[in-house]
Amino acid sequence: MRHPVRLNLAVGLLWLVAVVGQAAEHPPGYALSSAHPAATAAGAEILEAGGNAFDAAVAVSAALAVVEPTGSGMGGGGFWLLHQADSGRDVMVDGREEAPSAATATMFQNDAGEAVSSLSRDGPLAAAIPGQPAALVHLAEKYGRLPLSRTLAPAIRLARDGFPVDGHLLARLAYRFQTLSRSPAAARVFLPGGSLPEPGSLIRQPDLAAMLELLAAKGRDGFYAGPMAQRLVRGVREAGGIWQLQDLASYRVRERAPITFELNGVRVVSASPPSSGGVVLKQVMRVLSLTDAMEQPSVDRKHLVIEALRTAYRDRAAWLGDPDHVDMPIDRLTSEAYAREIADAIDLEQARKSDDLVPPQTLIEEGEHTTHFSIIDAEGNRVAATLTITLSFGSAFMVPGTGILLNDEMDDFSAKPGVPNAFGLIGTSANAVGPGRRPLSSMSPTFVETPERVAILGTPGGSRIITMVLLGILETLDGSDATTIVSRPRYHHQYLPDAVYYEPGAFSDEEMATLTERGFVLKSAGREYGNFHAVLWNRAQATLDAAADPRGIGTSRVELTPDD
Ligand code: GLY
Repeated sequence: MRHPVRLNLAVGLLWLVAVVGQAAEHPPGYALSSAHPAATAAGAEILEAGGNAFDAAVAVSAALAVVEPTGSGMGGGGFWLLHQADSGRDVMVDGREEAPSAATATMFQNDAGEAVSSLSRDGPLAAAIPGQPAALVHLAEKYGRLPLSRTLAPAIRLARDGFPVDGHLLARLAYRFQTLSRSPAAARVFLPGGSLPEPGSLIRQPDLAAMLELLAAKGRDGFYAGPMAQRLVRGVREAGGIWQLQDLASYRVRERAPITFELNGVRVVSASPPSSGGVVLKQVMRVLSLTDAMEQPSVDRKHLVIEALRTAYRDRAAWLGDPDHVDMPIDRLTSEAYAREIADAIDLEQARKSDDLVPPQTLIEEGEHTTHFSIIDAEGNRVAATLTITLSFGSAFMVPGTGILLNDEMDDFSAKPGVPNAFGLIGTSANAVGPGRRPLSSMSPTFVETPERVAILGTPGGSRIITMVLLGILETLDGSDATTIVSRPRYHHQYLPDAVYYEPGAFSDEEMATLTERGFVLKSAGREYGNFHAVLWNRAQATLDAAADPRGIGTSRVELTPDD
């Protein structure tokens, strides 16, 4: 790295070696945060009933599927990052959707070979085989201590009795109105009489309640086999989709080792492929460590973050995909030697240009809806889960008689090499459509462990997820509380387009002037983005802290275990 006034700060992250008191073995209670008050209440209900964090994760995931159908659902998938307190084991439950066996690399192109985005976004052709039902059964059977009939009960109640329409949901219903209108089953639930519902009116989902009851009674066969599977396949095929019974029967949850790394006394655990999150975070954090970013003046730290993101997002596009189908040079991409090369190319007087980097050869497209929640229980078990159905309401197609809104996760594949998507993200054949493949994701549920604190972090936000999680990690290292972590204005760079997108307040006037002078193109993001959730356990002080992003309608809750 070249710097006009090179700061000699060999001490690194000094605060990390500050005296840390005797760390508590267990948290003083439980804490959680999610994107909807009813989902947070569902998780708390299960923890109060004697469930652990994994049981609560089942309850929150299912409740979000009912009350936040814009972000995730039983017709979608996600990554559940788990920490088991007794063994200290971290594992990622990969419930990502999988392309059906009849999928082909060109299925979202027209006869002229052009990518047709509506095909991969709207309607049943856009839907990959859902992973969330299998993941919830897996969590319950392998990690939980309560039966699914108990952990799914809050969601079943919400689906059967209904929940009131909030402004957030109403805005997204308006946005997807046309596409939802084309699916009679979806319109019946969300657009009563063919119109937007009244604010505060109840949305009832009896078919979804019945589907959840079947899952509670029969486990994975309640979704992937028998009458439900037949109904799903028939409904998809009658509306132009390509699912087969065998696609559902062969779907399996994968347990994967997370991306884990330690730098300057900080341990980070994050999502591994098919998410790009952990790989990008590891590469970026290495560059920031080698350049002493935490010790630099604010504007230089931001310069370093942007430059590190530029290369990491280029590499994401070039190399990453489904680990069961493509070889990825992850060791090289996250090595210290490579981070040194990147660091050496950064000039603190001058922005680089993305066009000067060797380009990858394709582009991918991702939705920005999605959802996240964070949980810690009184034993110290943790869950960071980011779940999605891609665009708001996924494909906006509900399979008749099932209550299941299908995802449009096929849109996270690279529809055609070399074509930029709506978010300007690019990809290569590593992320091409193919039978049984899982599309590349940006979802990055993450744990951060410093000598003092444990943080459970994550957010929705499409291509911006990884940057937001990175900024959340840096806030954690700065010692910020949960409210600051979720609230601080954000900025983002993703290689292409070659611009820094920022929320109001992300840069001071002076920082804007300096970064512009150095050659960065700064553009207002036009709106606030993200819906971050943070749970913090301070082991040294035996305290818990949690916060939901003020940009959303979510809530957090901290309950301390009463003294005996
Ligand atoms: N569909 C958003 C993601 O997986 O990153």
